[in-house]
Amino acid sequence: MSVAVLVPAAGRGERLGPGAPKALREVGGEPLLRHALRSLGAAPEVDLLVVAGPPGDLAATEAACAGTGALVVAGGTDRRASVAAALRALPPEVDVVLVSDAARPFVPVELVQRVVATVAAGAPAVVPGLPVADTVKQVDGTGHVVATPPRELLRAVQTPQGFARVVLERAHALPAELLVTDDAGLVEALGLPVLVVPGAPEAFKVTRPEDVEAAEALLRRRGA
Ligand code: CTP
Ligand code: MG
Repeated sequence: MSVAVLVPAAGRGERLGPGAPKALREVGGEPLLRHALRSLGAAPEVDLLVVAGPPGDLAATEAACAGTGALVVAGGTDRRASVAAALRALPPEVDVVLVSDAARPFVPVELVQRVVATVAAGAPAVVPGLPVADTVKQVDGTGHVVATPPRELLRAVQTPQGFARVVLERAHALPAELLVTDDAGLVEALGLPVLVVPGAPEAFKVTRPEDVEAAEALLRRRGA
């Protein structure tokens, strides 16, 4: 088995407010991307890291990756295109592929290992998920409630998501117009099973300014 982790890192971070691309913004004195690569690379099962960086900031992306061994490629205009660019850079021997957002700096090593082990055991696609605390309503275009799915059947999903390489490649070969917000969504469109394994609160995504505060607080608790 040869395992690669693709790290989409080409987003602008609009919801964080003006500044550098999100992956290059710092918490605890280091770019989010560097924290993410350290967390993901801590799993001995991981053989290769591939970063899809902001096309206009590839030199800064390389600098943020220095010493990690990660391969850097230019990302695309949306997350799906960035993952596809990283996927095209994989060497032939890789057979298990994880995809993990640069915006999730503190993925626990046990979570990476759980996802790899579940794919290695034969699952074509694996996503970490957490129970949801809020009641979630499905609404129509006018804001009226259409349905209230039972909360115990809902999961908030995270990354890393893991795939047999052939499955992820087939998924990304689907028409570009297909609107999905994660890679597992493409696998669902193929009609293949996607298995949810327990996620981890520490694998939260930095999206808004308050998430940067949460990331700084986590680092302080760790004594960094
Ligand atoms: N991403 C990417 N290429 C894009 C857009 C997003 O690689 N064209 C990556 C981001 O860098 C991030 C991950 O996908 O690591 C999750 O996306 P998100 O949290 O939405 O990050 P941004 O797109 O940067 O943030 P925003 O949507 O607020 O602009
Ligand atoms: Mg985005």
